Amino acid sequence: MKTKVICFANNKGGSGKSTTCSNVAYGLTMLGKKVLMLDGDMQCNLSLAYFSEDQVLEIAKSDRNLYRGILEQKNLRDCIYHTAYENLDLIPSSSLMSGIEFDLFTKWQREFILRNCLEEVKNSGEYDYILLDAPPTLGCFVMNLLIASDYLVIPVEASPWGLFGLANMFDFLKEVQKISPALKLMGIAVTKVDTRKNYVKQTMEYLNAQEEVHVFNSFIRMDSMIEWSQDNSMPVIAYKKSSRSAQEYMELAKEVDQLGSR
Ligand SMILES: Nc1ncnc2c1ncn2[C@@H]1O[C@H](COP(=O)(O)OP(=O)(O)O)[C@@H](O)[C@H]1O
Ligand SMILES: [Mg+2]
Repeated sequence: MKTKVICFANNKGGSGKSTTCSNVAYGLTMLGKKVLMLDGDMQCNLSLAYFSEDQVLEIAKSDRNLYRGILEQKNLRDCIYHTAYENLDLIPSSSLMSGIEFDLFTKWQREFILRNCLEEVKNSGEYDYILLDAPPTLGCFVMNLLIASDYLVIPVEASPWGLFGLANMFDFLKEVQKISPALKLMGIAVTKVDTRKNYVKQTMEYLNAQEEVHVFNSFIRMDSMIEWSQDNSMPVIAYKKSSRSAQEYMELAKEVDQLGSR
């Protein structure tokens, strides 16, 4: 199988992008896949999901992180770190990513820089999947992430405001597909579902009514285990395998693998 690149993006903040990216990545390794994650957000949440705060700060100051890789247009292989888990690696972010839009502005073919920096790693076929965690924006850097991707997964929080921004995301996707027609929307992952609220039903009905948009069967409910696992820099599947969210994320990883390995 060729290496597949999947971007987790949604311009709405707090929709579960980083949580979903980190847990689907770990879930895919449980299915026997080798996975590389890339943290595209200045908030470094995906990096913190696997490394301590001290480690993340140290990496951010070093010359081996996503920011330095893009700025110097290096082969991103130089910025890969092994996590504590087998077959799971990470390219960490840096708070300096806050200035990335400005830095990209004067670069030649600025939408293609990340794809070029990842090209050698992708073409080597070493990884089954490369999972990209996007920041909550829709600028040139997110365009870079999507142009480097084969698939987009949109994590959506089951709330009225969670749905509001989705139209912008679809428009942005269409724009990117003009440049990168092979990019496909793999599906919408509904997250942070509070089953005590009726709003969930409405959310699911609305999403299922969107033609040509796949909604993953496994949705992720609110679970305090997610926060406990993040406090321990662990994916929830490793932190407490029997927890509800661990099982839901495992099911989601299986669905992603089914669609991604086609
Ligand atoms: N299923 C869940 N149950 C409880 N809290 C969650 C769940 N998913 C995410 N969270 C919390 O919601 C917040 C936003 O999630 P995050 O993955 O960081 O979103 P994004 O990357 O889209 O900003 C985080 O504090 C995270 O711990
Ligand atoms: Mg995030």
